[in-house]
Amino acid sequence: MDKSIPLTIAVPKGRLQGVVIELLEKVGIDCRELRSPSRRLIVPVPDTKWRFLLSKPTDVPTYVEYGAADLGVVGKDTLLENGKAVAELVDLGLGRCRLVVAVPEASGIRDVQELDFNSRVATIFPNITTDYFNRQGIQAEVVELNGSVELGPIVGLADAIVDITETGTTLLENGLIPIADVAQVSTRLIANQVSYKVKHGTIHSLVRKLQVVLRAETDTGMEG
Ligand code: PRP
Repeated sequence: MDKSIPLTIAVPKGRLQGVVIELLEKVGIDCRELRSPSRRLIVPVPDTKWRFLLSKPTDVPTYVEYGAADLGVVGKDTLLENGKAVAELVDLGLGRCRLVVAVPEASGIRDVQELDFNSRVATIFPNITTDYFNRQGIQAEVVELNGSVELGPIVGLADAIVDITETGTTLLENGLIPIADVAQVSTRLIANQVSYKVKHGTIHSLVRKLQVVLRAETDTGMEG
């Protein structure tokens, strides 16, 4: 990793930030500044020309596509939903979860083909959801929400939801049951397409180090 080449890495703020920092430290990137409490959104990597850009998770692909960041860390769900033109380099295996169709358990529905014509489906992923139901040949009305989509069926806004499930607790506690898998989700390292060519040596060296760390963790059963 040639740290004299300028490199900007977009890191998602919030839920994943801690595990992303741990992984970056394992490949030898100094994250002290990133760990120190601050409201700064651009954070330098000491003694290098590298820096972090702290972004809302769903905006990471946008910063990378436009070259404001050379690299970014982002969930596969966001990549599928946004459809940005970026290079997907490594499955970092962090934040593993499933994107599922779920319905009220009391509805008795156990297969997506049992959903009524024009059923309403609430989701924060309208593109993924529309594409999924089109592929299934099911006519559905997709209702876009910004979060807490489990509320939709409870208050009669929707017949089903498409959402992330990790432990299954949120579905269970809201009387919902998954009836179909839409996608497996985990966190990916992505690159700006031009940066990937122009800074290939530096980026490739980082990718190799990440692969070594991830393989070692898989071998010891420590994968996050
Ligand atoms: C996510 C997701 C589910 C929940 C699933 O929500 O949308 O609601 O986590 O996790 P579980 O299966 O472990 O219960 P998040 O907390 O990101 O907030 P949101 O509902 O506002 O999107």
